[in-house]
Amino acid sequence: MTAVTWEQSPGDVMKVAVLRSLRGATQPVSGADLCRQLGATRNAVWKCVRSLRSLGYQIAGTTNAGYRLLASPDCPFAWEVAEELSTSQIGRTVVYMPEMASTNDLARQMARDGAPHGTLVVADTQTAGRGRRGRTWVSPPGAGLWMSILLRPPLPPTEVTLFPLLAGVAVTQVLRQWYGMPALLKWPNDVLVAERKICGILLEMSAEADVLHHLVLGIGVNVNLVRADFPPDLQDHATSLQLEMGEPQARVPLLRRIITEIEREYIRFISEGPGCLLNQARLLSATMGKTVDVKSADSTVFTGTAIAIADDGALLVRDATGLERPFYAGDVSVRPAGAGGSIS
Ligand code: BTN
Repeated sequence: MTAVTWEQSPGDVMKVAVLRSLRGATQPVSGADLCRQLGATRNAVWKCVRSLRSLGYQIAGTTNAGYRLLASPDCPFAWEVAEELSTSQIGRTVVYMPEMASTNDLARQMARDGAPHGTLVVADTQTAGRGRRGRTWVSPPGAGLWMSILLRPPLPPTEVTLFPLLAGVAVTQVLRQWYGMPALLKWPNDVLVAERKICGILLEMSAEADVLHHLVLGIGVNVNLVRADFPPDLQDHATSLQLEMGEPQARVPLLRRIITEIEREYIRFISEGPGCLLNQARLLSATMGKTVDVKSADSTVFTGTAIAIADDGALLVRDATGLERPFYAGDVSVRPAGAGGSIS
């Protein structure tokens, strides 16, 4: 396994060393022992402990009595994400910042600067989080997973339309398998629980003609948002893991699980093609057999029954006259059975 890298300063390297030492110890670790293990001065160790405390790590004790780690904050610091991650491609480089305008923007910039395939960019909060079609994505601190994955797949640009589906399938499976959530995939890139959106995906790419340069897969998961965190017009349409499960959920393990699942789907897609992915998307679909409104980029709306996800990832919709249309992108609203309204 290659070493995980992150935007590391010497201070960060020392933090990781102190945390590893404290986590591996059954007894308090004295300042002197830490100095020996790290090859650092007492003052440097003391400053490091102080810095960890300021980040939310609960460390009891003093340099003489020894230090004990009582609790770690649930924050996706790069070193925490990296610590138990067993992926081989995604997340081998992690960049975390407490605040960013948009993780997609930084990932795009890093892609242009040559960052490696699989780079993961995570923020605790986004000040200008973006959704599809220029919408705002609410990204309060401490409450969600706001992340972007930079990919350089060996594929033509035409196959890239399946990537939102890939991320959506991965998140849906993680929510079902690890959290027992009845999560479903709303084609092409929303994950729903109880008909409310819990995760959104924003794919951006750089390509020319038939050459793909890179993809940025932006994923927002509402983990511990409460109702008041959502704007009033979204409160009936959005949800979070905390709202569904009744208690806060840890973000770091969820992040690792999602990355691991995305990598599994990605490797299978690259080596075997999209067959398995499409079958998963069909099984997990929230739209199949339902009456849907599909709004295209030009704002025209096509209403009909969602009848299939085609082999190229298109959603096939049949209207009342029997006309069938494939959609490769669009906003899908599912109409509740027997009702006139629809769920976006
Ligand atoms: C949507 O449903 O409209 C897509 C939402 C995508 C939100 C994520 S959060 C991380 C990444 N950075 C962004 O600015 N947007 C995506």
